[in-house]
Amino acid sequence: MDLIIKGGKIITPTDTYKADIGVDDGKIIAISRDLPGSAKDVVDASGKYVMPGAIDSHTHMDMPFMGTVTADDFESGTACAAYGGVTTLLDFAMQPKDKDFLETIKIWHGKADPKAYTNFGFHVAVTNLTEDLVKQIPDVMKAGVSSFKLFMTYSKGGLFSDDARIYRMLEESKKHGFLVQVHAENDTVLEMLKERYVKNGNTSAEFHAKSRPNFVEAEATHRALALATATGGNLYVVHMTCMESIVELANAKDFGNVYGETCPHYLTLTDEKYLSPQGKRFIMSPPLRSKDDNAAMWTGLGDEILSTVATDHCAFNDAQKDMGKDNFTKVPNGAPGTETMLPVLFSEGVRKNKITLNQMVKFTSYNPSKIFGMYPAKGTLSVGSDADIVIFDPQLEMELTAKNLHTKSKYSPFEGMTAKGMPTHTFVQGMPVLYDRELVGKKGAGKFVARGKHVPL
Ligand code: URP
Ligand code: ZN
Ligand code: ZN
Repeated sequence: MDLIIKGGKIITPTDTYKADIGVDDGKIIAISRDLPGSAKDVVDASGKYVMPGAIDSHTHMDMPFMGTVTADDFESGTACAAYGGVTTLLDFAMQPKDKDFLETIKIWHGKADPKAYTNFGFHVAVTNLTEDLVKQIPDVMKAGVSSFKLFMTYSKGGLFSDDARIYRMLEESKKHGFLVQVHAENDTVLEMLKERYVKNGNTSAEFHAKSRPNFVEAEATHRALALATATGGNLYVVHMTCMESIVELANAKDFGNVYGETCPHYLTLTDEKYLSPQGKRFIMSPPLRSKDDNAAMWTGLGDEILSTVATDHCAFNDAQKDMGKDNFTKVPNGAPGTETMLPVLFSEGVRKNKITLNQMVKFTSYNPSKIFGMYPAKGTLSVGSDADIVIFDPQLEMELTAKNLHTKSKYSPFEGMTAKGMPTHTFVQGMPVLYDRELVGKKGAGKFVARGKHVPL
């Protein structure tokens, strides 16, 4: 055997039990108490949790956006992932307007293949759709990409999709079994509000949030859900932030195959951050909300109205954020997060009894593996599945500050927070990538995950 992980507590969505795990050739080959035999490496996990590697299904590495390119590429971004116990990330391959879907995927392979420490897959972020491109979808799925994203906003950046395009993709999703993701915000209303604030000299970070109030998100969420219900398509709403949107999702779940995601920052941070001198660092879309919305998101998870947590890792450094130092509309939207997802969820969610430890594994591994077509190779610890494994020390404390983290944004939105509970080891298909908190993996060793059809939960 290549590896035995001994004496840990195994955590799955449904079970918590003590057992050893044997790994050979990248797969889990045995799970039992006091596993007999020897291995090239034996890791003592006593006192620790052993969990399926997290899947961060929402990242933006090396992405051109708002006049710049995200600060983390697949090298630094997947290093962050490994430090955070993420074994697979799913990144948005942004379609250049003059390229087809397969060309877009090729561009993203060029960015990721030589650099990744962890496994990775792609969604195509659709910026242009023709009936010829629709015909390419079966080939895209054969290339291992079974999810597409459409932006209901960012008309100024050329990313916007109208309702008809979303409807068309949802129709096709039903036919072919892929997933349609939407960034749900009402574009015309928020653009009008942005313009009005700027015209009146209200250009500081707080007006980013004011120009994108809850109803802007909830209305677009409602519309996307209505389109999914009408078509019978498969819909996943990314980065949900507020109570009103959760209500829309809860209502639609009886009628459609629909899913919602939230992110650690929408569970733990509020719009007060925009009033701080570092307010620009928190400009992401949708914006941070109120304490009540944080609570609603935890309830959405606890009650399993929401299905996943992902990070929307979209890192920019302070110099990039300063592109909008005099005008919030020019600040590149996004913040880092893949390294801190599990520590924040554990410290703020599990420790504070807002979700269970088993639910944490469900939202960050099992559910995304199914929804995004990777189950049972990923998302579980079973004999025969990939040895994507995290050893997590619930007692290990770390301040979530830039000097302890690895994003090239050089800041963390969770600055000032100390996590109690950190990954110590991250194995990707049996390969140690993080070992005793040391990055030991090889750049470029991470593999593309060819995903199958969406599996309804
Ligand atoms: O502000 C954000 N979320 N930036 C990344 C792009 C997106 O909307 O997901
Ligand atoms: Zn988005
Ligand atoms: Zn995003």
